[in-house]
Amino acid sequence: MVKCSNKGAFELDHSFSGQNTKGEKVTFTKEKMINGDYDLGKLFGIDFKNKECIPDRSILKEVTFTKNIYLGLNKIFQSFYRISKRQKQGVSELEEIIGPDYVNMNFIGEPGTGKSFSLRAICAVLGIPMRVEAFSGDSGTDKFLGISSIAHGEIRFNWTAVPVTHRDGGVIALEEINQMKTDRQMALSQAVVSPFILEVDNYMDTYRNPYTIYVNLFNVGTEGSKPFNEAYLNRFSTTYVFEKDDRETIIAKLHQKLGYPTETPKHLDSFTFKPRKLIKTDFEVAVDILDNVKNYLNGDMVARNDEAKTISERQSANMLVEIQNGIEPKDAAVLTFVNTLACIDLELAAEVKEEVIDIFPWEYRYNSEKEQ
Ligand SMILES: Nc1ncnc2c1ncn2[C@@H]1O[C@H](COP(=O)(O)OP(=O)(O)OP(=O)(O)O)[C@@H](O)[C@H]1O
Ligand SMILES: [Mg+2]
Repeated sequence: MVKCSNKGAFELDHSFSGQNTKGEKVTFTKEKMINGDYDLGKLFGIDFKNKECIPDRSILKEVTFTKNIYLGLNKIFQSFYRISKRQKQGVSELEEIIGPDYVNMNFIGEPGTGKSFSLRAICAVLGIPMRVEAFSGDSGTDKFLGISSIAHGEIRFNWTAVPVTHRDGGVIALEEINQMKTDRQMALSQAVVSPFILEVDNYMDTYRNPYTIYVNLFNVGTEGSKPFNEAYLNRFSTTYVFEKDDRETIIAKLHQKLGYPTETPKHLDSFTFKPRKLIKTDFEVAVDILDNVKNYLNGDMVARNDEAKTISERQSANMLVEIQNGIEPKDAAVLTFVNTLACIDLELAAEVKEEVIDIFPWEYRYNSEKEQ
């Protein structure tokens, strides 16, 4: 078992070397995805237990690779590359092994927009086991901590999907977790971020496997309801918003679904990311965005103090991770700050994007403060 400490230092490493990727670029192509060329076991030696939970790659022939699929793939791929590298270097403390690279994300959007399907496709490409736990208003914390049952007169403890994935690694899809009572969501709070401990069966301290991925999948209510505990949501730093596809993509999907040959939009057949080292400006901008978004939410104009609590330095750190992964700084701010707010209120998120992110002097900051 790996040890834990509070030491926060970790190496920021952007470089891929060897056969895994060419130079500084990471390119995902449809053909290679279907061939299994991005299997994390093959590439980085990550050995998942419960291989029977890995979605079959044959489903990939039916997939239209959307931007969200590529973004999710890239995030997991690069985060797990860095984690595996630290493990190979002999780092022994869990907090250092995981560092800023824990993958806690939200997939939000209306029913049928492809949240569950996209997650399954990502797991098939990377060779990651996937488990699902579904929530309702009645769900208790035993959904996180495991469930006892009586069999043949004996009490037996069952490691359900969440504790098993926490311990063994893989994706755990928390379907409709916003339906759960908000105070109960906090039972997962120490598990998904440092100290990464899940108190299984209420007493067994169980550390997070560095290759565990937590994903909340849900539909955002329209009445401006607040389905989430702010502190819980704050621990999920990257959010992908699923929207209805454009006409071309819908027609391609329908062809695939009905077994008719089709040309999917060419621009979706591959996607390239250019990971890079962070520069001083990135850190300054990530802090400025945090300040600006907070000030905007706490200001007299909108006065949304509760929503302001959902964002913190965690989102700044994640914005930096995204930049490191090759996402443009402005897009990185949207995936982290704006989309975290979208989990609560889509209109508020759109407003913050317009009033804070869009008017931020991105070009000026990156051109005038450029350094190498
Ligand atoms: N990228 C894709 N390529 C091909 N087909 C897709 C894609 N995304 C979604 N689909 C099709 O759309 C259907 C609905 O998608 P999915 O079940 O993932 O929606 P969802 O967002 O999880 O909905 P809900 O909120 O109801 O759970 C899938 O069963 C699949 O047939
Ligand atoms: Mg679904």
